[in-house]
Amino acid sequence: PAERAMLKDRIKHLLKARDAVMVSHFYVHPDLQDLAEETGGIVSDSLEMARFGRDHPAGTLVVSGVRFMGETAKMLSPDKRVLMPDLDATCSLDLGCPVAPFSAFCDAHPDRTVVVYANTSAAVKARADWVVTSSCALEIVAALHASGQKILWGPDRHLGDYVRRQTGADMVSWNGACIVHDEFQALELALLKGEHPGARVLVHPESPADVIALADAVGSTSAILQAAAHTDAAVFIVATDAGLLHKLRTLNPDKTFLAAPTAGNGATCKSCAHCPWMSMNGLAGVAVALESGSGEVHLDAALGQRARRPVDRMLAFTA
Ligand code: 13P
Ligand code: SF4
Repeated sequence: PAERAMLKDRIKHLLKARDAVMVSHFYVHPDLQDLAEETGGIVSDSLEMARFGRDHPAGTLVVSGVRFMGETAKMLSPDKRVLMPDLDATCSLDLGCPVAPFSAFCDAHPDRTVVVYANTSAAVKARADWVVTSSCALEIVAALHASGQKILWGPDRHLGDYVRRQTGADMVSWNGACIVHDEFQALELALLKGEHPGARVLVHPESPADVIALADAVGSTSAILQAAAHTDAAVFIVATDAGLLHKLRTLNPDKTFLAAPTAGNGATCKSCAHCPWMSMNGLAGVAVALESGSGEVHLDAALGQRARRPVDRMLAFTA
């Protein structure tokens, strides 16, 4: 604990000295969530992280999350320095959607509007007409569908299926998944719900359809926080990365939050409801990045400009 407190003090000092601000995702370690808020930064979902980083006047952004979040921050603020505690923190959706085959998939469907999830590389974003996050995917696809457009979606198949079911849009989809949300188990979830009569189930739409079918509320990390705050229940079962439990519990001290069951009941699962890449972010990484400038995100300027267009469209749509 003494070492943690010293590291936090060191980071606070460095943030001021380097004109830097912290931008953290809800899935990273609670220390990085709390420190961001205590120092004038933000902890939020991927949409608001992007907007906050773009609008904040600091010359350096310290993005605690995964690679695509740092890249999005850099494309929106090419003149700022963007640092990450660990540049190797990636995402199974990004890894599972390399630009060459994805581009060929798009070429095979020239009549479709290309909508990609934010959890992708800059090169994949540059191939897209729209970028969306889970907070705005439904609204954006619904609007495109209403104007008669057919959609090519990638890479998360569960979120894509959910959006298609909700909007009725004509969609073809890339076959990617988040290794964390893909593991939630409907049968075990139904059993747990049975043990807690009155419990409400909150589900992130990267989860399988049979898990979503058991939900009382479906939405992004911030939508789950909103649902927990505004639903009158004592117990909630949460199907998203366990990192969100920190915020859920601090904001709702009188409510109980249980993690939804994953494959292998935590014994054999790949991720046990916690993203291995989000866990690569820590206080030490933030301190080293600020101290030495390591972990800087670099993005080819021309690629950054092309990738930014569909991101700007999303930010304007949700403004
Ligand atoms: P949101 O915070 O946008 O819901 O994203 C979830 C996610 O998986 C980010 O990695
Ligand atoms: Fe990617 Fe899933 Fe990790 Fe989010 S939680 S970064 S979607 S692997």
